[in-house]
Amino acid sequence: MAEVHVVNHPLVQHKLSLMRDAATPTGQFRQLLREIAFLLGYEVTRDLPVELRTIATPLTEMDAPFISGKKLALISVLRAGNGLLEGMLDLVPSARVGHIGLYRDPTTLAAVEYYFKVPDGLEDRQTIVVDPMLATAHSSIAAVQRLKEAGARDLKMACLLAAPEGIEKFQANHPDVPIYTAALDERLNDHGYIVPGLGDAGDRMYGTR
Ligand code: PRP
Ligand code: URA
Repeated sequence: MAEVHVVNHPLVQHKLSLMRDAATPTGQFRQLLREIAFLLGYEVTRDLPVELRTIATPLTEMDAPFISGKKLALISVLRAGNGLLEGMLDLVPSARVGHIGLYRDPTTLAAVEYYFKVPDGLEDRQTIVVDPMLATAHSSIAAVQRLKEAGARDLKMACLLAAPEGIEKFQANHPDVPIYTAALDERLNDHGYIVPGLGDAGDRMYGTR
């Protein structure tokens, strides 16, 4: 079973607490999400392969490490995934980017797909799915399933908050895919929202309701 990594760095936790606060306005919420994404991205990309190439510093030649292989793929689950995407692109500007449009049916909480566009060559890329909320996990399970069908083999799931129920279901469906999250919350409520959570991530990012 792939691991669940809780990124409990004090900077991440401080910024997350600000995001949870219902009084935090939209602009600041988006900015904080971008900043946390940068810090999460640092952990998620920790095992990227490197190769040595000879370079000349102003003083001498040396064999220096560079990221090797095909550019990694960042896949944003719309809408809220775009908040994490921006911060990760700050960290890895050359990453290839895909988008999967999914919304939760308000009654059944099933994930409904409305858009799918991903980079080619996923077979040979490390592929990181970004979505701030892993609640029932219907959305993340569907996103990873579609990416596997498109050829992705080396996948990671990066989120901000996860519920225990969602983690269990995700791991049952995708035991090969590690999860990176800034926090593991208590539970889901009757409407499938994470508690204590931060509310509806997309609405808080964009000021919709
Ligand atoms: C939110 C969130 C996740 C999903 C998580 O999206 O961004 O994609 O819910 O819930 P789940 O784990 O129960 O599937 P939402 O459906 O609200 O769409 P939006 O991002 O477009 O607002
Ligand atoms: N989606 C959200 O945006 N928030 C939750 O708490 C659960 C799903």
